Amino acid sequence: MDIQAIKSEIDSEIQQINSLPELEALRVKYLGRKGIIARLTGSIPSLPPQQRAVLGQQANELKAKILNLIAEKQKLLSAAVNKAVGGPVDITLPGIVQEPGHLHPLTQVNDEICDIFTRMGFSVVEGPEVETEYNNFTGLNIPLEHPSRDAFDTFYLKSPPSTVHSPPENKNRGPSALDRRRLLLRSHTSPVQVRVMKSRKPPLAVVVPGKVYRPDAVDASHSFMFHQVEGFMVDTDIRFSDLKGILEAFAKRLFGQDIKMRFRPHFFPFTEPSAEVDISCIICRGRGCSVCGRKGWLEILGSGMIHPNVFRNVGYDPEKYTGFAFGMGVERIAMLKYGINDIRLFFENDLRFLKQF
Ligand code: PHE
Repeated sequence: MDIQAIKSEIDSEIQQINSLPELEALRVKYLGRKGIIARLTGSIPSLPPQQRAVLGQQANELKAKILNLIAEKQKLLSAAVNKAVGGPVDITLPGIVQEPGHLHPLTQVNDEICDIFTRMGFSVVEGPEVETEYNNFTGLNIPLEHPSRDAFDTFYLKSPPSTVHSPPENKNRGPSALDRRRLLLRSHTSPVQVRVMKSRKPPLAVVVPGKVYRPDAVDASHSFMFHQVEGFMVDTDIRFSDLKGILEAFAKRLFGQDIKMRFRPHFFPFTEPSAEVDISCIICRGRGCSVCGRKGWLEILGSGMIHPNVFRNVGYDPEKYTGFAFGMGVERIAMLKYGINDIRLFFENDLRFLKQF
C-alpha cells in the first residue's frame, strides 16, 4: 500500500466531512480494527527485514497525522454546533421532553357528571356568574328579608353597570326594581333554572355546570369559589320517583353499582318536598370510618320537587307542570371519589398534586 496515496486521500476526504458522525465513520475507516492503518501494520511482518523498520515508522507517522487531523476537525465541528445552539452542548444529555398537559381533576369530574346526565337525555346549559338578585333569590322563592336567604350568604357587587341585562318583567309577581338592579356573584347554580324556564317551554331536562361563590373563610373543606352541577327536569307528569330513579342511576355510574342511596327530608325554599341525598360511604362501605364521621353515609347533593311558586315566577302553570331539581358540589364529589382531604389542593396548582390525575 502506498503511504503517499493514503496521505493525500485522507487529506481530501477530511475536507468533505461536515458532521461528527461522518468524522467517526472516517476514523473507523482509517484507524478502526480492520481499518487501513491496521491493514498496513498487519502487512509488516511479511516484509523483508530491512523494509520493516522503514514502513513501521512511516505507519506510525501516518497514524499520528490522521489522529491529529481528526482531532482538529472535531474541534471545528463542535465549535460550529456550539455556535448554532448558543453554547457548549453535551450531546449525551437527554432531550427536552414536551410533556402534554391534561385536564384538571375538577374538570374531569365535572365532565364525568355531565356525561352521565347527557347520556340520559339531559342537555347542558350554562349561565353567568354575575347574576341578578332576582334570579339568585326571589325567582327561586327566597324572598328578600326572609331568613332562608341567610343560608346563602352572598358576595354583592358594589355598583351595577348600566349595561347589564335584566330579566323581562313579569306583570303580576315581577321582580321589584331593587331586585333587578342589585348584582351579585351567584351563590348556587339554581338561578339558571329561572333563566332556562323563562326562555323555554317544557318538556325540559337540563344540567348546569358552573362556578359559584360564597363568602366562606377558606379551610380544608371551604372555598369562597367552588363548582356545582345543577339538574332539573320539567314535564306534565314528573314525580319524585323519577328523581329517585335518575339520581340512583347517576350515583351508581359515578361511584359503582354496589353503593346504596338514601333520601333524607330537608328544606330548600325552591323545592317541596326537599331531600338531601346520601350514598353509603365509599371508603368503609357503610361500616363507619373517619371520612363519613362513623355514620356510614356521605351527603352528596340537595334535591326536591320544584316549588309551585318557582313555576309561577317563570310563567309556568303549576297545575299543569311538575318537575324535580337537584344540585351537587363538584369539589365534594371529587374529594370523595379520589380520597382528597383538603379542598385547597384543587386551587394551588401544585404539579405534584395535579399529575396524579
Ligand atoms: N341550590 C342548592 C344549594 O346550593 C342545591 C339544590 C339545587 C337543592 C336544586 C335543591 C334543588 O345548596
